[in-house]
Amino acid sequence: MRQPLVAGNWKMNGSRDSATGLLKGVAAGIGGLATEVVVCPPFVYLEQVGRLIDGTAIQLGAQNMAREEAGAFTGEVAGSMLQDMGCSYVILGHSERRSLYGEDDAVVAAKTVRALADGLLPIVCVGELLEERQAGKTEEVVGRQLNAVLDAVGAAGIARGVIAYEPVWAIGTGMTATPEQAQEVHAFIRAGVAKYDGAVAEGLRILYGGSVKGDNAEGLFGQPDIDGGLIGGASLKVDDFVAICRAAG
Ligand code: PGA
Repeated sequence: MRQPLVAGNWKMNGSRDSATGLLKGVAAGIGGLATEVVVCPPFVYLEQVGRLIDGTAIQLGAQNMAREEAGAFTGEVAGSMLQDMGCSYVILGHSERRSLYGEDDAVVAAKTVRALADGLLPIVCVGELLEERQAGKTEEVVGRQLNAVLDAVGAAGIARGVIAYEPVWAIGTGMTATPEQAQEVHAFIRAGVAKYDGAVAEGLRILYGGSVKGDNAEGLFGQPDIDGGLIGGASLKVDDFVAICRAAG
């Protein structure tokens, strides 16, 4: 049995004030759920959010990290620093990092290696563009992104993390993949990991992300290979996020 996981990716949103109200509401709403819940605020709020979730069931994650260990890398944040701030998880290879900041498969693989070395659990994002789906290249693209990471960290490495399938055309667009479309790719990802190690594939949590809301979460999470979600916009609203966490449980 894979424990469901829901991670909220706040992206570049929020403030000290909004974090306080949001986390109070979420902590109260998820009490007693079997779902593992993670919030990933911007770096500057990690310390505050860490304090706010102390003593609750919510865990802390970051949205990105440097591929280097430490040193003269102005503006970067090391995985060891995230660990020091109480992060358990780190999102890597989000499509916004790939498309807006030039992170390619090699960078994402290198960051995954670094995250594991720093004691963090990576949430590795994969997903195709609309043009790629329309050209019938979804499996080719997702397979390439997945194998880059698997080749770098092996099955034992990926076993310590999570994969998030996020079709780029569904992110922030309101155009959710149907449960069947998502399940098809999730099963493909699990089969891809199984080529490296069957037991790891069976235990690996694969999250869906892309316009998950309170009212479509249940259909998605009801699919056999969908083990939870990576949530953007809806993670900023107490009622939506709690409804999604409940749907996963
Ligand atoms: P969305 O974002 O839920 O706002 O579509 C998901 C993500 O980018 O992780």
